[in-house]
Amino acid sequence: MREDRFTGQVALVTGAGSGLGRATALGLAREGARLLLFDRSAEGLAETAAGCPGAIAMVGDAASAADIGGAAIRAMAELGPVRLLVTAAGMLGPAVPLAQVEEADWDRLFAVNVKGTWLAVRAVLPQMQAAGGGSIVAFASTAGLAGSATLPAYSASKGAVVMLTRSLALSHAAEGIRVNCVCPGSIETPMLEATFAAAGDDAARTAREAAFRARHPMLRFGRAEEVSETVLFLLSGAAGFITGVALPVDGGRLA
Ligand SMILES: NC(=O)c1ccc[n+]([C@@H]2O[C@H](COP(=O)([O-])OP(=O)(O)OC[C@H]3O[C@@H](n4cnc5c(N)ncnc54)[C@H](O)[C@@H]3O)[C@@H](O)[C@H]2O)c1
Repeated sequence: MREDRFTGQVALVTGAGSGLGRATALGLAREGARLLLFDRSAEGLAETAAGCPGAIAMVGDAASAADIGGAAIRAMAELGPVRLLVTAAGMLGPAVPLAQVEEADWDRLFAVNVKGTWLAVRAVLPQMQAAGGGSIVAFASTAGLAGSATLPAYSASKGAVVMLTRSLALSHAAEGIRVNCVCPGSIETPMLEATFAAAGDDAARTAREAAFRARHPMLRFGRAEEVSETVLFLLSGAAGFITGVALPVDGGRLA
């Protein structure tokens, strides 16, 4: 693995306190990026920051314009203009048929997954424009490209992230700002564990886990590093002519 792709570049990573955001932050740190780590979990952030020398950790809500705006301003003031953005903060929302989703749960899910992505991009875009370019990777999901009976509201929110990505890519391509998203299949993180736990008792949990595994032609779940390495590639100059893609990282699930 190359170790100098991001030397001196400033990166803001939301959802950096766990799972895929953490793996991406650690990868960026290993390759020389200067990081602002953002998450609602102080404990999670502290654990990630321990592996990211010099990183700033900020606790906040991705759905709050003030919180993410404050993070972008602090990154600029203490590290320099943000040229790399990763929006991994996300939640599963209610695992029930759409007709049974409570309005408040729908609103919170879309506030975090969709509005949170938009707010983070909006907060850093002026810095990228002033600096002459940048690269953004959002977290969608295979559930953003295909429907889901298990997590239909989540699927709708991730579909919106795919379209945010494509529209942003078109709007900012001429400014040297690339915008892509990854669409992971089932990846071993605390969120996947929560998906299984939401199935109910032990038997239901085991059945859901087996069903999810069987959906992947590789007959296994993905590892966080298999997603974070894809994110690093999309962020890097090696992907310099790639913008507006929604890239599955899914062991062949959507093939
Ligand atoms: N793990 C998978 O199988 C999988 C598959 C497809 C897509 N994804 C997406 O990847 C992203 C990362 O998921 P993960 O598996 O690492 O989950 P995770 O639960 O391990 O980590 C998510 C992180 O986001 C943070 N977060 C959640 N809501 C937030 C908010 N409002 N403000 C700030 N931080 C918030 C959490 O504190 C946590 O640290 C999510 O967007 C998720 O939807 C995950």
